[in-house]
Amino acid sequence: MVKIAPSILSANFANLEKDIKVVENSGADMLHIDVMDGHFVPNITIGAPVVKSIRKTTDITFDVHLMITNPELYIRDFVDAGADIITVHVEASNHLHRLVQTIKNHNVGVGIALNPATPISTIEYLIEYLDMILIMTVNPGFGGQTFINNMYEKITTLKDLLAKRGSDIPIQVDGGISLNNIEKLINCGAEIIVAGSAIFKSQDVGKTIRKMKEFGNK
Ligand code: DX5
Ligand code: ZN
Repeated sequence: MVKIAPSILSANFANLEKDIKVVENSGADMLHIDVMDGHFVPNITIGAPVVKSIRKTTDITFDVHLMITNPELYIRDFVDAGADIITVHVEASNHLHRLVQTIKNHNVGVGIALNPATPISTIEYLIEYLDMILIMTVNPGFGGQTFINNMYEKITTLKDLLAKRGSDIPIQVDGGISLNNIEKLINCGAEIIVAGSAIFKSQDVGKTIRKMKEFGNK
């Protein structure tokens, strides 16, 4: 089943509770929370205290995307704040296997993200430990960027590899996704669709989510 994960990066930070309620009531499957440190990526967003605050307002699954250096130092903070899934970047850790184990030991889901330039081979040895693989379809750091077209092929390649391995873990895609390219992404094998600006900057947030879900049910 295809899942829709609105990214709150494009929501109204002055009233997250309201925006979260809207996506929750429109059938969003999880909430994608982008954490940026101004070091791993050239932008700064939010940290664990904000996650903790919004945790009190909703039961929706929190999908926390860490775009930070030294993620191992902050896993406990995000778990305590209420993360359900924590995704870390291949490029941010020298000891990825250990980091994955650390996250799993906290009994939350674990995902690994690959920047557009990072080959799939970097995580082949870890597939059996993961709950999700995130293929970045833009260079991380900002909402509203243009989808990188070469990423379709990367998704297909990963889908084939997972099938060969007998793995059914979902592929998540993130960056530049809208109603215009969601169908092609689903056909390539993407199962968890992150969208920020396409959802929160649209005229009718609820309607956009419902339309995205319709593509997933086709
Ligand atoms: C980018 C973030 C994305 C971002 C996507 O670095 O990881 O989650 O919010 O925004 P859109 O959907 O606007 O490209
Ligand atoms: Zn993200």
